[in-house]
Amino acid sequence: MINIAIMGHGVVGSGVVEVLTHNSESIERRAADKIYIKHILDLREFPESPLCDRFTKDFNDILNDDSVKIVVETMGGINPAYNFVKSCLLAGKSVVTSNKELVATHGQELLTIAKENNLNFLFEASVGGGIPIIRPMIQCLAANEISEITGILNGTTNFIMTKMIRDNTDFSDALSLAQKLGYAERDPSADIEGHDACRKICILASLAFGKHVYPNQVYTDGITKITLSDVKYAEKWGGVIKLLGRVKMLENGKINVTVYPAFVPNDSQLSLVDDVFNAIMINGDATGEVMFYGRGAGKLPTASAVVADVIDCVKHVKARKYLYWADTEEDYVVDHLDTKAELFIRIKTDNYDGDCEKISEQFGEVRFLSDVGDEIAFITKEGVERDLLNSLDKTGLNAESVIHILY
Ligand code: HSE
Repeated sequence: MINIAIMGHGVVGSGVVEVLTHNSESIERRAADKIYIKHILDLREFPESPLCDRFTKDFNDILNDDSVKIVVETMGGINPAYNFVKSCLLAGKSVVTSNKELVATHGQELLTIAKENNLNFLFEASVGGGIPIIRPMIQCLAANEISEITGILNGTTNFIMTKMIRDNTDFSDALSLAQKLGYAERDPSADIEGHDACRKICILASLAFGKHVYPNQVYTDGITKITLSDVKYAEKWGGVIKLLGRVKMLENGKINVTVYPAFVPNDSQLSLVDDVFNAIMINGDATGEVMFYGRGAGKLPTASAVVADVIDCVKHVKARKYLYWADTEEDYVVDHLDTKAELFIRIKTDNYDGDCEKISEQFGEVRFLSDVGDEIAFITKEGVERDLLNSLDKTGLNAESVIHILY
C-alpha cells in the first residue's frame, strides 16, 4: 500500500478523492498497489465527507509524515502552493499537481529539485484538463521536431465564445454560467484576460522546445473586448473567434509565443471545438498535424489526469520519469510585433467612403467585410504586425477592434 496526501479539497481536489474512491479497484490493478489517502489539507471543514477523519489544517502533518511518498497539490495559485510543493520535493516526496500557474512560473526550479532528488514532479492536469497531452507530447511524439502548437486552452472562454456565437448571449451571462458550472478560475479574470491560457502555452512551449517560457515573456490578450459585432464579421468572413494559445519555432531558433483571440476559418478543425472543450494541435515534422481534443476544465476530467499521474508515480516510485526543461535564455522569445500577421480591423465612421479611401491608401488592397454604414470592417493583407499597426495609426482612425487572423 502506498500513502498519499492531497493538498486542497476544492473542485479538483475533491474530484481526485472521488475518482480514487469510485474507481479504486481498477486503479489498484493498474498501479499494481493500493493507494491510501492518508491526509487531506484544507482550511475548511468537511464534516459530511466519508474521509472527514483524514482532514488536517496543518501542512506539517503531511511534510513530517515519512510514510507519505506522493503528494497531490490541487490548491491552485502560487502561495502557499509553491512553498508547500518545494518543501515536499526537498523532503523526498514526489508531487503531482494540476496547478498551471505554479508550473508555468516555477516549473524549471521544481523539475530541477525533483531531478536532483530522483523524484517525480508530474502535471498532466495542468494543461487541457482531462485531455492527455503532456505525456503524449513527450513520449509518443518524442521522435518529432515540433514546429508549432496552437490550442484552445481555456474552457471558460471557449464556453463564453460559443454562447456568444451560437446564442447571441451577453458576455456576463455566459461568464456567470461558466462559473456556476465550475469551469472558471476562482478569479475569472485569469480566464477572460488570457492568463490561464498563457500559463498553459508556457508549459507546452517549455516541454516542446526544452527551455522554460515564463508568462511575462508572452504577449497575452483575452476576450473581454470582443463584441457581438466582431462575432458577426467573423461569420461573414467564414469563421469563428476563438482564444488561441500559440507557439511557433522560427527559422532563427527563437520562438514566437502568443495568446489572443483570433478569427479561425471554418475549414480549420479548431473552429469546431465548442463549449468547454479544448483542443491542441501539434505540428511535428514526422507526424504532420496531430490534434488532441476533450474536456479542458471541470472536476472529474481534471481529476482523471491528476489520478493518472498518481498511478504513474506509484509505478515509478523508485525510478524518475524523464520530464525536464532548462531555464530560458535572453531574447529566446521574440516580440510578436516583429512577426508576420493578418489583422481584422473594425472602425466606427461617419464618413464611410472617405475613411475607406484612407484605409486603402495606407494598407493597399484590403478585404472589406462591412456594408456602407457607421462601421468599417476589413481584413489586411499579410505583413509584419508592427507595420500593419503603423499603417492603422497613419489613417488617423480609431479602431474599435483589432483581431488576429489564424493563418
Ligand atoms: N479555468 C480553467 C478553464 C480551468 O476554464 O479552462 C482548467 O484549467
